[in-house]
Amino acid sequence: MGDGNTTTFATAWRDARCGDISEVWLGRRVKLAGWVHRVRDLGGVIFVQIRDRGGRVQLAFGPDWCDAGMIAAARGLSSEDVVQVEGEVVNRPPEAVNPEMTTGSIEVHVDDFRVLSEAAPLPILVADVDLAELPAEELRLRHRVLDLRRPEMIRNFEVRHEAVAGAREALSAEGFLEIETPLLTRRTPEGARDYLVPSRVNPGEFYALPQSPQLYKQLLMVAGYDRYFQIARCLRDEDLRADRQPEFTQVDVEMAYVGVDDVLGVCERMLQRMWSRALGQELHLPFPRLSHAEALELYGTDKPDLRVDWKLVDLTDLLTGLGFGIFDHTAEAGGRVRGFVAAGGAAVSRSEIGGFEELARKRGAKGVIWLKAGAEGWSGPIAKYVDDDVGAELKGKHGMAEGDLLLVLAGPDSETTAPLDALRRAVASRLDAFDEGGAHWLWVVDFPLFERDPETGAPVAAHHPFTMPVDADADRIRETPFDVTARAYDVVYNGVELASGSIRCHDAEIQRAILEALGFDRDEAERRFGFLLEAFRYGAPPHGGYALGLDRTIALMVGAPSLRDVIAFPKTTAARGLMEGTPSGVEPEDLAGLHIQLCEDD
Ligand code: AMO
Repeated sequence: MGDGNTTTFATAWRDARCGDISEVWLGRRVKLAGWVHRVRDLGGVIFVQIRDRGGRVQLAFGPDWCDAGMIAAARGLSSEDVVQVEGEVVNRPPEAVNPEMTTGSIEVHVDDFRVLSEAAPLPILVADVDLAELPAEELRLRHRVLDLRRPEMIRNFEVRHEAVAGAREALSAEGFLEIETPLLTRRTPEGARDYLVPSRVNPGEFYALPQSPQLYKQLLMVAGYDRYFQIARCLRDEDLRADRQPEFTQVDVEMAYVGVDDVLGVCERMLQRMWSRALGQELHLPFPRLSHAEALELYGTDKPDLRVDWKLVDLTDLLTGLGFGIFDHTAEAGGRVRGFVAAGGAAVSRSEIGGFEELARKRGAKGVIWLKAGAEGWSGPIAKYVDDDVGAELKGKHGMAEGDLLLVLAGPDSETTAPLDALRRAVASRLDAFDEGGAHWLWVVDFPLFERDPETGAPVAAHHPFTMPVDADADRIRETPFDVTARAYDVVYNGVELASGSIRCHDAEIQRAILEALGFDRDEAERRFGFLLEAFRYGAPPHGGYALGLDRTIALMVGAPSLRDVIAFPKTTAARGLMEGTPSGVEPEDLAGLHIQLCEDD
């Protein structure tokens, strides 16, 4: 993503970047520097491609303009040596023009060159690495400096830069101030484990690294900085997956005197600017909204991937009373019979359906019932129960056509919702039913304020404890916590949660009730969040905000399979930095200085 202005990169060592040399330079002398990408020895003339962040250019060393020593030296160059060259920019002969290269119509006839730094034999290839045959990721991470030189990686970081610049631009234009908040702090309430940092000067005491700037940004609202943002590093000691890193970045935003629509609007306009600046794509605003309850009902998840247009349907009334025991018993027990029509799914074999059933069982389903619409009529375990009326409704109301597959789960929603989501995605993937290249944005709003702790059943904050409920008073929060809806929202893009936020609780009474419902008594609440609660005593404006997961956003923008492809120096899933070797042991005297003793058995 050069800016087209080649003089930007002119320095003591070079007149321009390799990739910026074009026909405009024809006939001129140019000084360039870069890595040796490839050397080709055609007998008389040696062709060397050199590369820098801006791209590649071809150098030619020929007997007509170089002495024999220089040609020999060029022949001896190794991949990734750093060289500096001078020469004349000339047209390539027509048969040598390479339309694939931006500099493919010219070459530089070198008459002066030096090796600035020799490269040792490479542990991983840099030049012309076929993406399908990348070295093992462990090797790439171990030799990250070389891996980062690949043009695909450079492109990822260019997109990342432009996206961040777009976010800054959009937020600055709307009056937001960029303010930094501490990294050495107290625990924050995002729900993961904290990284702790021992204090040397305060023996036995620890800082926590922030899981997000949540409390500080709320304090900034109380302090009167009514529009804040920060490109914030967040640290969470959690089990890692492809879409999680222990250190990650958020575009963190908070605003005072706002309602849900205000915050959603700011977030949408920010994303719009990020997309247009980084990718040249126009997002259409506003994004559609679904309530949390609707999302679960229609897709079985709070992160629906709308690239697949199949929706879940309630078939309880249609499929009970036909004599199929499982469905009848489910309905009698207060459960439901739900499923979806997979267009073209009749092509899925019985053994594949067995595999899908296995998947659904792992997610808690008791089994999967299927029905195919074939040229010869219905087939599958419930085919004989499908009479003309049922068939007509499946075809009419539910759009089932010849060649389609209906997959059905029966049971209480708590047992069927998650497996239905898993099935919908897995079957869609088998049938290539994703609208590839589609960009489906969605707000999921009206989350519940609390979820049940899977082990204890006790309320835990669905977003975080500082979220404002919709029209609820302190009594309702105490008495029927699970019925309370939150002013919380997520941005979902193609099934991935990119951003999350809420309107915050600025009412001390409601805040106390929420903390009580979460099991914090007054002392505990005071001990953990006293600084926030105290600030709220001195006039707290209504406020709210959101945080966008930047790494996830960029990974989706560039189509990277892992966050590691868009973080310069990421951690592995075992939370290790393979290049620098983190974490690492420390000397006993370092621990002693921190007043820490390791347990023998650890
Ligand atoms: P939340 O915890 O939902 O909200 O995080 C917001 C967004 O950050 C991203 N994210 C991550 N990205 C990479 N690795 C991780 N380990 C990780 N964890 C989260 C996700 C997520 O949507 N303070 C609140 C926001 C607010 O209420 O304003 C918060 O942090 O994309």
